[in-house]
Amino acid sequence: MRIASRRNRAGRFLTPLPRVVQMAFTTSNALGVEPEKPAMKERASNKRFPWVAALAAAMLLTGCAEQAAVKEKPVPVTLETKPFGKTPSGEDVTLYTLRNAQGLEIAVMNYGAILTSVKVPDSQGRIADVALGFDSLDGYLEKQPYMGATVGRYANRIAKGKFVLNGKTYTLAINNGANALHGGIKGFDKRVWSAKAGNSDAGPSVELTYVSSDGEEGYPGTLTTVVTYTLGNDNSVRIHYKAATDADTVLNLTNHSYFNLAGAGKGTILDHMVTIYADRFSPVDSGLIPTGERKSVEGTPFDFRTPAAIGARIDDTGDEQIKLGGGYDHNFVLNGDNGKVRLAAKAREPVSGRVMEVFTDQPGLQFYTGNFLDGSVTGKDGVRYGKRFGFCMETQHFPDSPNKPEFPSVVLKPGQTFESTTIYKFSADASK
Ligand code: BGC
Repeated sequence: MRIASRRNRAGRFLTPLPRVVQMAFTTSNALGVEPEKPAMKERASNKRFPWVAALAAAMLLTGCAEQAAVKEKPVPVTLETKPFGKTPSGEDVTLYTLRNAQGLEIAVMNYGAILTSVKVPDSQGRIADVALGFDSLDGYLEKQPYMGATVGRYANRIAKGKFVLNGKTYTLAINNGANALHGGIKGFDKRVWSAKAGNSDAGPSVELTYVSSDGEEGYPGTLTTVVTYTLGNDNSVRIHYKAATDADTVLNLTNHSYFNLAGAGKGTILDHMVTIYADRFSPVDSGLIPTGERKSVEGTPFDFRTPAAIGARIDDTGDEQIKLGGGYDHNFVLNGDNGKVRLAAKAREPVSGRVMEVFTDQPGLQFYTGNFLDGSVTGKDGVRYGKRFGFCMETQHFPDSPNKPEFPSVVLKPGQTFESTTIYKFSADASK
């Protein structure tokens, strides 16, 4: 776990916003964002990103039709808010839509700090929403497998829902066979977070805060978690996590987005080519609890060190671990330094040419290939999400770390600040 004592950077959110952003904010005063400054010039966003104009000029020179389209129709950087409904207990939910100068658009809501959509151009400029999810809040309120969600207080599994900390045994809510999964029955994904949106030099952002009370779902300590989504002009979706506690606790935060780079609902993800920069993975038992071993991927279907189609070995009946997971549902022990943001994984969809790269400072990545999707959930555009319609790359600490002293520690103590960054970066290429 990366622990640091950095200053609170929330002040960045009070920097002046591009006009389009501020126009959006004038419709919503609940956020306490500064009102629009009359002196602010139109298209302030272009001033912020002068290289956009230079890029457009370079594109024109290449004569590429798709790139020329970018020049003809400059896209302003925007951040819009709109009401997205109410929870059954009457709490207001707001949807924040962030758009960058390249036309990439994401939406985030304060229910579950959920990333509800990621709209990405392909190599021809055609946009598709690559994140599985729902058209309205109702779909997210029903039982659903954590689509787009921020997962906590402990993402992934804790064996038998028990762990010992400072000599005391804690008993968690059990919600996955005999085990605790993804923070319990009402984890962070089902809570309403407070939200603050604005703009930083890095791009439009939404900062979401949730205070989890001492004892919630069985976890000790009052834990304050801040998740910030920032949409960069390099087509990166940066997710920054920050947390502090008033008593010793355990913590593992992730984002549980399901991706299909052909577009959500467009069939399975079996043809995506995936690279995972991991020499080892965590074998599991029949309850998907790691055995504690860090096994070499060499000669197994878990070797993604060079690009391989997800579907190439996913039904390898000769591999015990594939059988236990019903496909891929395993933690990969990422190469490189735990605590340092590095490239962890990459996926490319061959027809659209869309590429997603995952960067993280976390030690692990749960590669889950939607093996439990079974058509029972109806998602965006009324499409039923079938088996392996999406894949997740959940950056994380290793599952069941509270019971595995040999794994990197997940203990957070009062006075420490947990900080972590994960980036999903999108691009498209037609060449390969
Ligand atoms: C887990 C899966 C689980 C899915 C949805 C993943 O993180 O590894 O086993 O089915 O989340 O809950």
